[in-house]
Amino acid sequence: MSKLFILISLLLSSALYAGGGDIYASRCDSCHGSHGEKSALGKSKAIGGQNTALTIKQVQAYKSGTLNQYGMGATMKNMVKSLNDNEIAEVANFISKLK
Ligand code: HEC
Repeated sequence: MSKLFILISLLLSSALYAGGGDIYASRCDSCHGSHGEKSALGKSKAIGGQNTALTIKQVQAYKSGTLNQYGMGATMKNMVKSLNDNEIAEVANFISKLK
């Protein structure tokens, strides 16, 4: 029973990890860089390795239109408005592992 549980947890976490990576590659990479090393459009910080909770908070705030750090909050809103809470958590987790 417990072995089965561990196996399921491992499968689930690797599935979540791949999900975040897919979202990042298709929707974030072009501006933030494949390692999160770029300043997006010359404005943002490099987000690679950033704390998961901070990224979730920022992305949720961009989505709701309440964050605008460098005058390009509306651009980020467009990038994340269709992501649900789960997808935001997955991509934030992926970003935290980038270096
Ligand atoms: C079209 C280019 C573009 C794409 C694609 C994009 N971003 Fe951004 N991102 C920006 C810009 C520009 C900013 C700065 C916004 C502002 O003025 O606050 C930013 C800011 C951020 C920040 C805050 C960084 C800081 O300096 O504090 C995070 C986190 C972030 N983006 C995550 C993401 C995620 C996750 C995705 C993919 C779902 C994504 N971005 C896709 C352009 C982009």
